[in-house]
Amino acid sequence: MSGIKICGMGHYTPPKLMTNADLEKIVDTSDEWITSRTGITTRHHCVEETHSDMCREAAKMALEKAGIKPEEIGVCIVATLTSDFLAPSAACLVQRDLGLQDDTICFDLNGACSGFLFAMHTMECMLAASPQKHGLVIGAEMLSRFINWEDRSTCVLFGDAAGAAVVEWNEDYESIHALLGCHGDSDMLGVTGAGHKDPPQIFMNGQPVFKFAVTAVPWCIDQVLKRNGRTIDDVDFFVFHQANTRIIDLAVRKYHIPEEKYYKNIEKYGNTSAASIPMVLSELSQFGKVASGSRVMLVGFGGGLTWGAALVEFK
Ligand code: ACO
Repeated sequence: MSGIKICGMGHYTPPKLMTNADLEKIVDTSDEWITSRTGITTRHHCVEETHSDMCREAAKMALEKAGIKPEEIGVCIVATLTSDFLAPSAACLVQRDLGLQDDTICFDLNGACSGFLFAMHTMECMLAASPQKHGLVIGAEMLSRFINWEDRSTCVLFGDAAGAAVVEWNEDYESIHALLGCHGDSDMLGVTGAGHKDPPQIFMNGQPVFKFAVTAVPWCIDQVLKRNGRTIDDVDFFVFHQANTRIIDLAVRKYHIPEEKYYKNIEKYGNTSAASIPMVLSELSQFGKVASGSRVMLVGFGGGLTWGAALVEFK
């Protein structure tokens, strides 16, 4: 046995709200279409704020909630694909802005919308080998900068945000037993980068991605439960990547998950990619819906294609 538990959560969203009515003025769309197809009514977009501002604010809140000082952090991982610089990494800027020790291991990781799960698993492995037993896992995304405003099927979906978790490793804690996977595909969903012939922007073929997501989510849940010898009833709360309310609704119906055991904030924030799962966790913790001892199933999927799930406990 050995693993990590969450000690504190934090999140940040920039103040600028983009409503469906705002989008109606920019592209040929309607509040009715966006709400009925996706469940999104507003999303936040950065104006003056930088990606590192969002990381810093979310991380500060998580440290405060955890009662952990920056100098106690041994490893800092930022899951992102939209950082301010290709180098330095977003994690290096968190080290600077929060005054983490110079020997803190800081790096970014790109798992697209599943990034927070990849980062939690990586953190669990790294803390096992580190003399420091606390780590900072951040999921942060500024996808508003990569929106293709000519493509109405994607430009309505994305928002900017950061979510952060302070975790503690202990040899007596159970592992989060993360299940992670990938199937390389550069046509279905992604963001073009520095090496691509086209300018950096989001692209997505919505329907096949939807089909992938509704298959991946139950598969991940089943596998994680099986590996852990648990059943649905052993899970206190379900946290799904917030990509589309219909994807979450299908999973909830399939497993008969009662209303008090899951939460959706896609309506307010849209799809915030790697930030979406820690954003939900942070709000749940703020509302007192999860607390010490809660066992939470995290399920994510996204560009890559990537997918993942884990069973995480709150300390
Ligand atoms: N407003 C009005 N009409 C629109 C809009 C819009 N914003 N966007 C598309 N339409 C139209 C289309 O043109 C099409 O019209 P047509 O029938 O006349 O051709 C019609 O609506 C249906 O379009 P679809 O693309 O088939 O719509 P769909 O029901 O599939 O919904 C959506 C699109 C919301 C993107 C959905 O496919 C989806 O949620 N897919 C999964 C997204 C996801 O899970 N992404 C993973 C994470 S993202 C990441 O990793 C970065």
